[in-house]
Amino acid sequence: LYGEKRSNSKGVNLNIHSQFQPLKEAMAPFLERRYQAAPLVGFTLDDDDTPLHRVMCPWDRDRLVGEVRWTSAEQTREAIAVARQAFPRWDATPVEERSAILERFADALEANMAELMALCCMEGGKLLTDGVAEVREAVDFCRYYAAHARELFGTATRLPGPTGESNELMLSGKGVFATISPWNFPIAIFCGQTVAAAVAGNTVLAKPAEQTSLIAHRVVALLHEAGMPRDVVQLLPGDGPTVGAVLSGDSRITGVAFTGSTDTARLINRSLAERDNAPLPTLIAETGGLNAMIVDSTALPEQVVADVVASSYQSAGQRCSALRVLYVQEDIADRIIETLRGAMAELAIGDPTQLATDVGPVIDEEARAGLQAHIDRLREEGRLLAEAPVTPEIAAKGTFIAPTAFRIDGIDALEAEQFGPILHVATFKSSEIDDVIDTINDRGYGLTFGVHSRNETFSNHVARRIRVGNVYVNRNIIGAVVGVQPFGGQGFSGTGPKAGGPHYLLRFATEKARTINT
Ligand code: NAD
Ligand code: ALA
Repeated sequence: LYGEKRSNSKGVNLNIHSQFQPLKEAMAPFLERRYQAAPLVGFTLDDDDTPLHRVMCPWDRDRLVGEVRWTSAEQTREAIAVARQAFPRWDATPVEERSAILERFADALEANMAELMALCCMEGGKLLTDGVAEVREAVDFCRYYAAHARELFGTATRLPGPTGESNELMLSGKGVFATISPWNFPIAIFCGQTVAAAVAGNTVLAKPAEQTSLIAHRVVALLHEAGMPRDVVQLLPGDGPTVGAVLSGDSRITGVAFTGSTDTARLINRSLAERDNAPLPTLIAETGGLNAMIVDSTALPEQVVADVVASSYQSAGQRCSALRVLYVQEDIADRIIETLRGAMAELAIGDPTQLATDVGPVIDEEARAGLQAHIDRLREEGRLLAEAPVTPEIAAKGTFIAPTAFRIDGIDALEAEQFGPILHVATFKSSEIDDVIDTINDRGYGLTFGVHSRNETFSNHVARRIRVGNVYVNRNIIGAVVGVQPFGGQGFSGTGPKAGGPHYLLRFATEKARTINT
């Protein structure tokens, strides 16, 4: 997909190569640009005194990327009224027209790839390779949902009927959806949720994460230019406790498509349930993970380590799918840990605009401080197994965290998801495999999982018993592809349906059966 990997003595680097040079040059002018963002809504905004928020670059903290005007609670309520009024017209718009807008938007995303990558880098701290993957995934979501909507919403499904009656089933939108998204996939997830809700016939209030409002603003501007009416998809930048809470507490909202932490999903669920006189809502929640991988003694150590490094440290470990707990059969553990140490010593941490960089910063100071506290605690307990180098100059410049690996007894030692480049390693005896699987299942998360083994009976057994949304055998556990690996978890990790899968759009739709007495 990305071209040839840069090789080194360990052959495990995360970054990729020469093919990126032209994109790197194309995005250079955008790195210097200062952006302004504000709500993009279907009514005229009064000149208001809502405060402007300064956006600083995570890997160069003195650098101003732009300013954002957040949406007030009052403007949020007004946007809901606009969305409600636009719903019947939009739901009656032929699906062909709705899908065509998504396809034009996909073209626009591709045409603006360099600028979007630059924004991902400056506001989100993302590597070039991650920026390309963001745009590609968003494009894939648009084209996949556009095609799927034509199949689902284009014609009614004829059903059998007794003589004298004809029956058919028709799909349409549900009403007004709020799409609330995280900062770690500021284009792919933000676009995926929003265009899915819209193409199914709903009007949408899109609330991006506070940390990536500039990216969302540029993306929604492109969506409007592609023909999406301004009252159908409105952008409401702002913070969770204001904009997010107003949305989930308003009885005019029909559904929420949320991606973010499990704790926030619980808050939204409670808020939706407590609304007075509101229709029973739809909640699609895609949440966090405590993802594990099991490695038995037949696995190939070099392949395991390459996949562990990619799964744990790519995107600075800021993926819901990232590997958090590695279980290694004890006979092979020393070899794996030794190889992992060597591989981590070669990781390059720093400026994400450079092709040689493997790991960029974490999103902000709050995230850095929380991860560092976890690292300090495990380090004090003498659990450090391996650490990648970060120079003091790099560390001083931005919110960098040295990728680390720590020894733990098992997944139960972790209270919560640590959303950064921290791997935990536990060992097991071959007779304990079913206990290990039970412990992972009982922990309650269920997003991604990996198994490495050359014993097919073993990997089949593990893959069958583990309760997660996405199982990967003998490969890394990140980077699900739209339409190929539908993505989403169970338990604490989400409600389903899977994004980029055949059932996703159905959750945004309502079904009407029509019976005609002929
Ligand atoms: P978060 O839960 O802090 O925020 C997500 C969104 O919720 C943001 O837009 C935020 O403003 C909003 N929000 C916060 N409080 C709210 C409230 N009271 N009411 C309504 N909305 C509110 O998550 P984050 O830090 O942005 O993202 C990281 C988390 O997302 C991790 O836990 C990660 O595992 C998860 N994630 C899951 C998936 C998945 O597909 N399962 C994908 C990406 C990220
Ligand atoms: N879909 C993203 C991945 O698989 C989160 O890494």
